[in-house]
Amino acid sequence: MELNTTTSAASRRASACLLVGVFAKGKLGIGAADIDASSKGALKKLVKQGDISGSLGSSLMLTTLPGVRAKRVLVVGLGKAKEFGISEFRRAITSAASLVKSSKIADIVSYLDLEAVRDADAYYRARYTVETIGSELYRFTETKSGRPPRGHALKKICIAADSRSDASKALRGAEHGQAIAEGMSLARDLGNLPPNICTPAYLARTAQKLDRQYKSVTTKVLGEAEIKRLGMHSFLSVTSGTVLPAKLIVMQYKGAGKDKPIVLVGKGITFDAGGISLKPGLGMDEMKFDMCGAASVIGTMAVVAKLKLPVNLTVVVPTCENLPSGTATRPGDIITSMAGKTIEVLNTDAEGRLILCDALTYSRRFKPAVILDVATLTGACVVALGHHRTAVMTRSDALAGKITAAGIAADDRAWQLPIDGEYDKQLESNFADFANVGGRDGGAVTAASFLSKFTAGMNWAHLDIAGTAWKSGSAKGSTGRPVPLLSEFVLQHSRAIP
Ligand code: BES
Ligand code: MN
Ligand code: ZN
Repeated sequence: MELNTTTSAASRRASACLLVGVFAKGKLGIGAADIDASSKGALKKLVKQGDISGSLGSSLMLTTLPGVRAKRVLVVGLGKAKEFGISEFRRAITSAASLVKSSKIADIVSYLDLEAVRDADAYYRARYTVETIGSELYRFTETKSGRPPRGHALKKICIAADSRSDASKALRGAEHGQAIAEGMSLARDLGNLPPNICTPAYLARTAQKLDRQYKSVTTKVLGEAEIKRLGMHSFLSVTSGTVLPAKLIVMQYKGAGKDKPIVLVGKGITFDAGGISLKPGLGMDEMKFDMCGAASVIGTMAVVAKLKLPVNLTVVVPTCENLPSGTATRPGDIITSMAGKTIEVLNTDAEGRLILCDALTYSRRFKPAVILDVATLTGACVVALGHHRTAVMTRSDALAGKITAAGIAADDRAWQLPIDGEYDKQLESNFADFANVGGRDGGAVTAASFLSKFTAGMNWAHLDIAGTAWKSGSAKGSTGRPVPLLSEFVLQHSRAIP
């Protein structure tokens, strides 16, 4: 996608399609007012006739308006001007993009970006615009037979700005939005691919591809022999039921010399049947999405490498399957983690924490400035927060604040849950240092408590994305979350936001 900005008035701009906005009760937005003035009141006439309502999400495509250089003007409803915030702005962009998607329109100019949006400046407006269009145009057709359907024709997005300085911010925002959209698409593709294709080896190959694509990225893939040599018996206990080899993927991006890196650890269970503690059959197919944490950190690596951010970023992905078999780990088995702590595996379906604890221990060697793990870790998280917010758990309230703030700025929101010592009791074991499950109550929190036993002394937070990483039902598919939140976190850390 080609990106640029313009400071010309809407009526004077040649394009296949201009996006302009009208608020509730027919109050014309900035671009719409200019079009109206140049076309002898064409828009006000349509408002009067009732063809343009201004209600949020509505739209009307107009062609060949007199006095207007563009071929088409897409009038988008923005709702009440007083309530025009980030989610309303994105809804308006989405409805415009869904029309463009099924048309032959090759270039658009967004005059919606001139409107005041609560809590979003020119940089963020442009970023949301390009990211939202990218998400709306996303299609997953890889596993359908026959010739792939003809995609959209859109090749150029131009963002209107009302000053030179806003235009330069908007261009930066558009570029960041495009990189984030691409990182999300990569994460979504990995999530949507079936578990017989997106295996641990496939994730490893994807990470190696980024190494080839970007000079600044180095990918190392450790096999089971090396994983064993490292003493990662907790990780290995999860993969013991499958014939597919487990992998530990380590990606390093260098953009800031000797600075300590941000480390992102992603859960990469390419299929979670539960192991011997087998899951019920209904909806089990969705456990192909149990690698969405891995997909999101690999997607974020792609964003950072593409934008050449001045930061050091390390991505660590433990990846394997969790299947039952004669060689699978039994409930009651006791294993020794890389950190030397023993774990009684009371439920083989609580496998995410077993691969993550070893990956977190391994990550100490990078001396992280901050370390975040991202995982579809618990059904209990979905019970607590539903599908709108990612859960954040950390012993550092300062870090929790940074993460939730990044979620708000990126419009990819998160909510903090506690992890105080009080919850540790639930993990006590009569036989090992602790158990891998803490009962039903507070399940998202006790999972985080388990991980916290391996992160002492590190600036660590855990993100449970069980409710946000994918959608079920007729819209079944990966969302690409929390790539926007993670990208924002890295952008803020590297001070790359104008
Ligand atoms: N991958 C699942 C968590 C999950 C389940 C995410 C459903 C989204 C929807 C995880 O490995 C798991 O099975 N967790 C168990 C933990 C329990 C055994 C303590 C769960 O949540 O039931
Ligand atoms: Mn499980
Ligand atoms: Zn799982």
